[in-house]
Amino acid sequence: MIGIIAAMEKEMTLLKAHIENPSVKEISGISFISGTVHGKDVVAAVCGIGKVNAAVCAQSLILSYAPDCIINTGVAGSLTNKLHICDVVAADRLVQHDVDTTALGDAPGFVSTVNTIYFPTDPTVTAALLEAICSLGINGITGTVATGDQFVCKTEDKRRISENFGAVACEMEGGAIAHVCYVNKCPCAILRAISDGADEDADMSYTAFAEKAADNSARALIEFIKRF
Ligand code: ADE
Repeated sequence: MIGIIAAMEKEMTLLKAHIENPSVKEISGISFISGTVHGKDVVAAVCGIGKVNAAVCAQSLILSYAPDCIINTGVAGSLTNKLHICDVVAADRLVQHDVDTTALGDAPGFVSTVNTIYFPTDPTVTAALLEAICSLGINGITGTVATGDQFVCKTEDKRRISENFGAVACEMEGGAIAHVCYVNKCPCAILRAISDGADEDADMSYTAFAEKAADNSARALIEFIKRF
């Protein structure tokens, strides 16, 4: 079974329309819809915005459905001139850019207990997602995606995140999902289409492009499921 998580309804609209024989279960205030897409078992959930919502959802999904992998689909801000509006990134690793114990001598983003800065995605799933993206004629790359409880909309923050972590995109859930998957040994992938440039125009760009970008990410995911 493939677990699918999006933060917002608009990021799940297209995928939900493809779920056959849906059945809904409520866990921790989140609706989990299980069914099939292209004959493959899936369970999909809209978790809400931010790291804690995403972590609650990923942990509940793992404990209740024991998925073969979890894929997060949605939108992101671009931190590089390699990613333009509606392009898609399949993360090869995630970092939580707002975890900061540098005052205690740790490196930026270092998460104690698990003692790592970067959380990996599953290389096989990520490569297959990239193939699905390209097969649709969408521009796609892999790279580091940075997560934090913040809509990035200042050039100085954008620069800091890209320089500190070598990140190509920023969003607000992927790092939490990758963290939960890491401690549960559940393969994961993070797929994000660009809605804005994470700069002073980000709010306007997001308003104009979030839906179209979200659909691009979902289209790539549906194509991946078809080939799975
Ligand atoms: N999701 C889409 N755009 C974003 C941004 N600029 N910052 C954080 N999350 C986002």
